[in-house]
Amino acid sequence: MSSFPQYRPRRLRRTAALRNLVRETHLAPSQLVLPVFVRDGKKIRRPVGSMPGVNQTSVDEMLRDAEAAAKAKVGGIILFGVPETKDATGSTAWDEKGAVQMGVRALKKEIPELVVITDVCMCEYTDHGHCGVLKDGEVDNDATLELLSRAALSHARAGADIVAPSDMMDGRVRAIRASLDAAGFIDTSILSYAAKYASAYYGPFREAAESAPQTGDRRGYQMDPGNAQEAMREVLADIQEGADAVMVKPAGPYLDIVSRVKAETGYPVAAYQVSGEYAMICAAAERGWIEKERVMMESLLGIRRAGADFIVSYFATEAASKL
Ligand code: PBG
Ligand code: ZN
Repeated sequence: MSSFPQYRPRRLRRTAALRNLVRETHLAPSQLVLPVFVRDGKKIRRPVGSMPGVNQTSVDEMLRDAEAAAKAKVGGIILFGVPETKDATGSTAWDEKGAVQMGVRALKKEIPELVVITDVCMCEYTDHGHCGVLKDGEVDNDATLELLSRAALSHARAGADIVAPSDMMDGRVRAIRASLDAAGFIDTSILSYAAKYASAYYGPFREAAESAPQTGDRRGYQMDPGNAQEAMREVLADIQEGADAVMVKPAGPYLDIVSRVKAETGYPVAAYQVSGEYAMICAAAERGWIEKERVMMESLLGIRRAGADFIVSYFATEAASKL
């Protein structure tokens, strides 16, 4: 490689046209997925205090947000449910008339161009707020698999394109794949939250989804933030069990993981820019300490540059409309 004065990298930075010509990473609306929080009822729109611009909505209002996303050419939408009633086993998670199931049906009918993804987990539906059933105060991995499979199957029946288990139980991808296949849903994809860390960045989400654990925390099943080799084992296990795509979460503080997963698997990789990442950018911008639009775009481009094919982000519609 030549060096200065032969090599002058600034030559190709002089104008926007030159910069555009040699830009390595691009961000397109189709690579963004919008998370939404759906609950029963009509005309409900409840702002989430720690996430400006994010609301819990009934299905009719969710459709308005989905229309705006589709208009901005956002690629997909991921649904989280906020049920009216909770119990120890989270039995409303597979209710055919649940807000998520009704929301999926409405989306497939009204806005067929949006990819519909559903989050599969028990924490929004259990009264104790953990991602599975409890036995002697601990989450019982194997007993939870059956419940997750039921929830995923109800989402597939409603017409979801992709089901996305976020619970971090061992063996859940295999269990879900088996029950989808047995019911004939061979074409419903699985996006596994394969490397999901026990992160403090989920704080605002737990307000949005009303899913904070009543006792203890999630460190017994989500990953230790210090571990990268283990993330690769998690990802490879999920791929072996039948995951069609894998997700890393959170995104910004774990870009090394995004990069390794892409390089070492070649599989479609998603990254989730989580609630805390979103809230921090909004809060700093509100104080006038950063330029919101530029930081939003830079944070998303950085996640793409690390290797993510698509990004789940609360900025999806806003960012897409500016691209
Ligand atoms: C549920 C789930 C969580 C998130 C996505 N699915 C919260 C958690 O595990 O506590 C976090 C998303 C976000 O913070 O935006 N298992
Ligand atoms: Zn959960």
